[in-house]
Amino acid sequence: MSKNFYITTPIYYPSGKPHMGHAYSSIVADVFARFKRIEGYEVLFLTGTDEHGQKIQKEAQKNKKDPKQFCDELSDKFLSLTKSLCLSNDDFIRTTENRHLKSVQEIWNRLVKSGDIYLDKYSGWYSVSDEAFYDKDEIEEIDGKKFSKISGSPVEWVEEESYFFKLSAWSNKLLEFYKKNNNFILPVSRKNEVVSFVQKGLKDLSISRTSFSWGIPVPNNNKHVIYVWLDALTNYLSALNFPNIEDKKYKAFWPADVHIIGKDILRFHAIYWPAFLIAANLPLPKRVFGHGWILSDDKKMSKSLGNILDPIEIIKDYGIDQLRYYLIKEVSLGNDGSISMENLKNCINNDLANNYGNLCQRVFSFIKKNCNNKIPKKNRLNKSDIRLIGNIKDNLAKLIDYINNQNLNEYIKMVVNFSFEANKYFNDSEPWSLKKKDPERMNAILYTISEQIKNISILLNPIIPISTKKVLDTINLSDKDVSIDSIKKDEIFDYNLELKNLDILFKKIENDN
Ligand code: ME8
Ligand code: MG
Repeated sequence: MSKNFYITTPIYYPSGKPHMGHAYSSIVADVFARFKRIEGYEVLFLTGTDEHGQKIQKEAQKNKKDPKQFCDELSDKFLSLTKSLCLSNDDFIRTTENRHLKSVQEIWNRLVKSGDIYLDKYSGWYSVSDEAFYDKDEIEEIDGKKFSKISGSPVEWVEEESYFFKLSAWSNKLLEFYKKNNNFILPVSRKNEVVSFVQKGLKDLSISRTSFSWGIPVPNNNKHVIYVWLDALTNYLSALNFPNIEDKKYKAFWPADVHIIGKDILRFHAIYWPAFLIAANLPLPKRVFGHGWILSDDKKMSKSLGNILDPIEIIKDYGIDQLRYYLIKEVSLGNDGSISMENLKNCINNDLANNYGNLCQRVFSFIKKNCNNKIPKKNRLNKSDIRLIGNIKDNLAKLIDYINNQNLNEYIKMVVNFSFEANKYFNDSEPWSLKKKDPERMNAILYTISEQIKNISILLNPIIPISTKKVLDTINLSDKDVSIDSIKKDEIFDYNLELKNLDILFKKIENDN
């Protein structure tokens, strides 16, 4: 089995500042990437910006900027967000880069060669803000204006010469593919939507535009630029040095293991993308996972509602691990989820400060005071100690399975539960009453609880990398030992070393009302 893992986020339109929705997709993908790394995989985690098309060109014009300069400025904000979110991405791709141009033109040429492209005229509805074509029956009229029923975005009538991709020819092949690869589209509810859409039959897709110029030119016909979605989707290959299919990145990482996306762009990833790839005679990605919407106080975030949550502000006020933890724990990955400052505060106080943070702090200060600041050697564990430690080891396969099925919520629930259990064990076994009475028993308890803290910290590391790193540094665990394998091992501690100092991990948030 190959030990390589390739995961991607959508590449975002740098048409405005990044918001919480973008942060959410990226954090989710980062958690999987980090987990697979500590599981021992060679991981490639890709994110970036989608910079061509009419939407960007218009936005640049509005801002009286040249489109490339406009993209440079805004793409930079997405790049700096990757730092603020502590993403572990290995690459950041921009579709205005040369490596991408070559890759998109190669895809185009392959589609021409396979006979899947023809020239005709397009007339129909187009949404610039979605960069999507819509059918008549997907349009509604409100107050004399036309909108997409699917996204709610305004649409305009377009009539122009266009190249088409013979999407209609691939309906059956796609249906066969979905059937054979039952987990290609997750969650299942999303898969069903896609299948019934394809079953109705697909129309050929317009894949070039002539009414603006901000895009990759069609090879041999500069009047046309390539449709931004054909351009954008290809980024997943460009980062692997496609078209050089002998390149070691391409060989190691294609097909991708999972594209993490929002449900708004499922059609593009689960229908168009595999169809382009089949036609281009390239292997298809293994999975597309479409997560739900982040709602702000029960409503979809939008500029007009003024309820856009700015991740940078929240990180400034509460901290990045706090935000990451909250989004992973409290939003159900496949569904829409409302987030609020009130819930964020509760989550920080209850789960992070009172549970995991408190556990680490009290155990280490106890060891400092009573054991010369060193973890006692493993000795004479009793049944309840062994049961406590065994519980995590026994559930490791299940935890790995949760991750492999993008079941983040079950994963974190189980890990948090380990932390509650560990706190309870510490309280119930009252090591403070044993210092004189039974120091050997006290030491066994402290060994056991340190072992648990190590294991819980490793499991939480993909979600809250900064704070768990502090804890693992405190017990002198080296970077290479931050791994799932170390959970399987006992006595990984260097008993000769003193614990390092651990500052407060999570400040409790005072309620201001
Ligand atoms: O669609 N809740 O870019 P985009 C959760 N460039 N996720 C959200 C969200 C919300 N409220 N708002 C945005 C594009 N997202 C294309 C993608 S990929 C080849 C090209 C996330 O800037 C979610 O992942 O509009 C969604 O799919 C993506 O941002 C859309 O970002
Ligand atoms: Mg969008």
